[in-house]
Amino acid sequence: MNSILYHIKKIFSDSFTSSPQFYFSPGRINLIGEHIDYNDGYVMPAAIHHGIYYAIAPNQTTAIHFHAADFDEWFSVDISEIKKMSGWKNYVLSVVKEFVLLEKNISGFDCVFGGDIPRGSGMSSSAAVEGGLAMALNELFGCGLNRIELALLCQRAEHNFPGVQCGIMDQFANMMGKKDQVILLDCKDLSYQYFPLQLQNYSIVLINSMVHHTLAAGEYNVRRQQCGEGLKIISASSPVQSFRDIEQAADLLAYKTSMDELVYNRCLYVVEEIHRTKQAATLLQQNNLIAFGKLMFETHQGLSQLYQVSCPELDFLVEAAAADEAVIGARLMGGGFGGCTINLVQSNKLEKFVATITRSYQHKYGIIPEVYPVATSDGTAML
Ligand code: GLA
Repeated sequence: MNSILYHIKKIFSDSFTSSPQFYFSPGRINLIGEHIDYNDGYVMPAAIHHGIYYAIAPNQTTAIHFHAADFDEWFSVDISEIKKMSGWKNYVLSVVKEFVLLEKNISGFDCVFGGDIPRGSGMSSSAAVEGGLAMALNELFGCGLNRIELALLCQRAEHNFPGVQCGIMDQFANMMGKKDQVILLDCKDLSYQYFPLQLQNYSIVLINSMVHHTLAAGEYNVRRQQCGEGLKIISASSPVQSFRDIEQAADLLAYKTSMDELVYNRCLYVVEEIHRTKQAATLLQQNNLIAFGKLMFETHQGLSQLYQVSCPELDFLVEAAAADEAVIGARLMGGGFGGCTINLVQSNKLEKFVATITRSYQHKYGIIPEVYPVATSDGTAML
């Protein structure tokens, strides 16, 4: 048995008399389409084998007992007294709260959870925490929600107590992921398509800058607000209702003088990234990984210069990757301000690339970056 699952099982049986069900809830990668899930764009995530494990059982009372194994912390609360707290508690309590708001008939339970998604790494540990609990409560208390409804519930949960106005990508990938498949999700209407992830002689590897982005929730919400402000200005003088309606980036020039420069740059990035992701999806279907990888580098430029969600460490990692002939694409992944880069690398030169970039990152910043080879996984499910 996996050592995390073993640990969780042991804590559960040492602490409770109930007999638990076990769940695995995956983190995600995103190939391309960053910061556009909340801008009517397309994204290309996949669920991965890093995730959160849950052991959970109803306890026939109204008390909820949580143990967060990664922090070795307990927390108990009566279901009628759930309120906003801090840290990890907000993610789990907010999920329970959403079930209560839907008037689903849930009551007390015992729960131990923990996993192997480094926090703040951009692999969405928060959606994994939310999704595992939501799936478990849905099944254990017979709430009857489908996977997309659960993803939307988790997104609302993240907006509520944690206060991050996230898009739907992470929660959708967590619920709808399929092993060996990438999801092309249209965030405007949640229509989706699976593509086989055929990487030929290439591998995906994540490199963790070890800069924690956890404090960047405020900046994330500011980006969302700036995009809203830009779109409002654009739609006030045109039939455009969505960034999707803007056919090409050059069309934005007409609005340049009517908005703040920062807001204009955010909008420009969004329009470019929506087009880039559409193009990338076609290239992936044609197995043109070289051209796909070039678009990943372009995305990073946009995220760094126009959207300004990078940091010197991430820029360094992407530049170092670009300078290595084995790498055909690299960019920061997820919300930004730290966390991982995603790299598309020739498999037979992977080891050398990892050794070189580790050495140069350590030399520059005195930090050894963690490296994660990626394997895809199915969405959240009972084990
Ligand atoms: C975070 C959010 C997602 C998405 C990404 C950036 O992971 O939770 O909704 O916006 O950032 O693409």
